[in-house]
Amino acid sequence: MNYQVLARKWRPSNFTEVVGQDHVVKSLMNALQHDRLHHAYLFTGTRGVGKTTIARILAKAINCENLQDFNPCGACSVCQALDEGRFLDLIEVDAASRTKVEDTRDLLDNAQYAPNFGRYKVYLIDEVHMLSGHSFNALLKTLEEPPPHVKFLLATTDPQKIPVTVLSRCLQFNLKRLLPGQIFTQMQDILKQEQVESEPLALQLLARAADGSMRDGLSLLDQAIVFGAGKVTADDVNAMLGTVGQRPVENILTALANSDAGAILNKIDEIANIHADFSTVLQQILQVLHRIALAQQIPGAVDHEFDREMITTLSQRLSPEDVHLYYQIALLGQRDLDLAPDSRMGFEMVMLRMLTFKPVATESMPIKPKQLPLPNPTTKQQSAIKTVRINPPELVAEKIVQEYSGEVKSNHSWSDMIAIMKLESLTRELANNCILEYIDNEICKLHLDASHQQLLTPSREKKLQQALQDYRGTPLKLVIKIGRADIQTPAIQSAKDKEDKQQAAVDAINSDANILALKEHFDARVMPGTIEPV
Ligand SMILES: Nc1ncnc2c1ncn2[C@@H]1O[C@H](COP(=O)(O)OP(=O)(O)O)[C@@H](O)[C@H]1O
Ligand SMILES: [Mg+2]
Ligand SMILES: [Zn+2]
Repeated sequence: MNYQVLARKWRPSNFTEVVGQDHVVKSLMNALQHDRLHHAYLFTGTRGVGKTTIARILAKAINCENLQDFNPCGACSVCQALDEGRFLDLIEVDAASRTKVEDTRDLLDNAQYAPNFGRYKVYLIDEVHMLSGHSFNALLKTLEEPPPHVKFLLATTDPQKIPVTVLSRCLQFNLKRLLPGQIFTQMQDILKQEQVESEPLALQLLARAADGSMRDGLSLLDQAIVFGAGKVTADDVNAMLGTVGQRPVENILTALANSDAGAILNKIDEIANIHADFSTVLQQILQVLHRIALAQQIPGAVDHEFDREMITTLSQRLSPEDVHLYYQIALLGQRDLDLAPDSRMGFEMVMLRMLTFKPVATESMPIKPKQLPLPNPTTKQQSAIKTVRINPPELVAEKIVQEYSGEVKSNHSWSDMIAIMKLESLTRELANNCILEYIDNEICKLHLDASHQQLLTPSREKKLQQALQDYRGTPLKLVIKIGRADIQTPAIQSAKDKEDKQQAAVDAINSDANILALKEHFDARVMPGTIEPV
């Protein structure tokens, strides 16, 4: 049996059969139509997107005796000879295997002779970036003064490695990576003609795994056919790719949404039992999280995906904040996976980290994870899990006061009190770095910003106590506790006010019409540090 790999067997033989790359194909057909072919083309793009294919079709079209709508006819002697690889005027070089200068020089020496058979001699140099410096020089010489009967078609995955002198003499076309949908359709067409049965889900998985390369996609398809003994199923494809099906990924993310550590570990156990590759599974989770994030921002973004239902459900179960947090953790986890003692352990830690750093649920909405009903995926219902941010310092301060609300028997705010008490410099500093927790006619409780605790000396404490006593007019006990470092003390507030004022002054200067005019006409600049608020 003579099995030809799909990628070779199904290489497009004319422009119409090329999938995608419309921008390139259209330009080339236009050039053929108006007989305005450039003497050198460079096709760039990643592997397996059609560089060699398009170059060969163009080589054929240039010499075809009977162009059909600017497509090579496929029937004339030129097309046939070219398809069979025996056309003398096509000189195909794989630079990856012929990098020595002599080779190139030999080849190019012949360029001056007229074509044997066709109208043009076509040099197709594949992976041209592999040529040595001397070879490039030889090529450049011919490119500078190309004989009229010669066309150069160059292809490379790595245009950065080509000297600019060569680049500037070529018309460059950048080929795009193919979309999963384009690869999927091509696979489906091919399998239909090959009469091989397949599950659509299997082809979707393969098309995505192809990562934009049609050749990679078709090679994977070859493998899948062999693996499945002639039938391409999703289970086989998952097993072959080391991926897990959609179900385990969905289960893990659902367990995460439920904050159910036990379920997560169970799922990991299941994944380990089918010998999936944990780093691939982590990638799958990243892909799914990415699409959930898309779906949350742009409803309809996943409408055409095969796993739409899963994405929709999860995008309602998980909050956008969680999705982004999980994505970040998975991304970093992927980097560290190789460092873990084994990949399963690394994977487990990543999943548990997601659980650990998940923002806690509010008390007002207690959730018993396992009883949480699945929301109806058709309604745009928000996740039941509301998140609580770490309270900003002002709120903490406010809350401390409120805990004693009604009992704080003071008509003034703490900063007003400080002003009224007329404290002397360092005692005032001490007060400014406190917040008032509680005061009545017997006791005053203050919280001192921990980063300023060096201000607290017995003598200052005594002075402050005396001043408070004078302010209240009754004997008073003072208790100063060292508080958190970031409480909103008057000192912090005043620093912030000062900063705000400064910013306002800077903004005012920067938007002042006169100053703008000075800047524009005299190239004036405001000296940094010279703006002061009045
Ligand atoms: N745009 C495309 N349309 C259809 N098939 C393609 C396309 N690009 C690549 N292929 C498939 O992949 C194989 C390799 O493509 P090729 O043109 O050699 O890729 P490269 O860009 O690496 O030169 C082709 O034989 C063909 O089967
Ligand atoms: Mg190629
Ligand atoms: Zn022809």
